[in-house]
Amino acid sequence: MKKIVAVIGSPKPSDRSVTYALVNEFIGSLKKSNDGIEAEIISLSQRNILPCKGCLDCKKTGKCVIDDDMGSIRDSMSQADILIFGSPVHFSHVSSVFHNFVERSIVPLHTFEHLGKPFVNVVTTNGSGEQEADKFLTKIGLLFGCIKVGSILRSDNDRFDAKAYDRVVLETGSILSGKKVRPSLENKMYFSFMKKVIEENPDYFKAETEIWNERGWFKKSYTDIYNEPDKR
Ligand SMILES: Cc1cc2nc3c(=O)[nH]c(=O)nc-3n(C[C@H](O)[C@H](O)[C@H](O)COP(=O)(O)O)c2cc1C
Repeated sequence: MKKIVAVIGSPKPSDRSVTYALVNEFIGSLKKSNDGIEAEIISLSQRNILPCKGCLDCKKTGKCVIDDDMGSIRDSMSQADILIFGSPVHFSHVSSVFHNFVERSIVPLHTFEHLGKPFVNVVTTNGSGEQEADKFLTKIGLLFGCIKVGSILRSDNDRFDAKAYDRVVLETGSILSGKKVRPSLENKMYFSFMKKVIEENPDYFKAETEIWNERGWFKKSYTDIYNEPDKR
């Protein structure tokens, strides 16, 4: 059984969110051609997620000082075979709801917590800012260590690119059926860059340094880790 986990940043309840509806439609399309898919859609605004306090204690201890639903969301994401990142465009960016999720994920983002997992972006808008929001979501996916499959963008005022949607459905469906994803040059670049930054600033990246050391990652490349048997 393959598991899809979608993390969505609309401030609205799921029955009124355009982003939720599009993610749900996408999962429905995947289910049509793939048996045995389990899906969990996490509407961040419907969970108890407090704002980041900015204390940066997480970078010292590896743990956030706030005890709320972020822990269970992190666990769900760890169990996923494929991740979806979804957000409405708010002033040419992701929503503040999604951005807070990002701010609360500093250590996972510095330690490529979901290395090797494929991800898809879903962005909805009234007609502007979708490229900017998509670019940001891609950066976040890459910092989680994930491999990009594609983006689904829907604007209220433009024709929906059904061909692009079908391509993402087809590619994601193939991956769910066993097709191996290939890390991109960007995956390797983000990994090398973060490794260098952490290596050169161990005091600032205390928790991250410990995690990278424990995993033996300072001696490895993205590809080395990706090709380890337990990553597949
Ligand atoms: C605070 C706010 C800012 C927004 N900013 C933009 C924007 O910059 N460009 C745009 O085209 N639409 C903008 N929108 C419209 C939403 O992106 C659009 O309605 C989206 O599909 C809503 O998704 P949802 O129903 O999942 O929340 C904004 C909406 C809100 C509430």
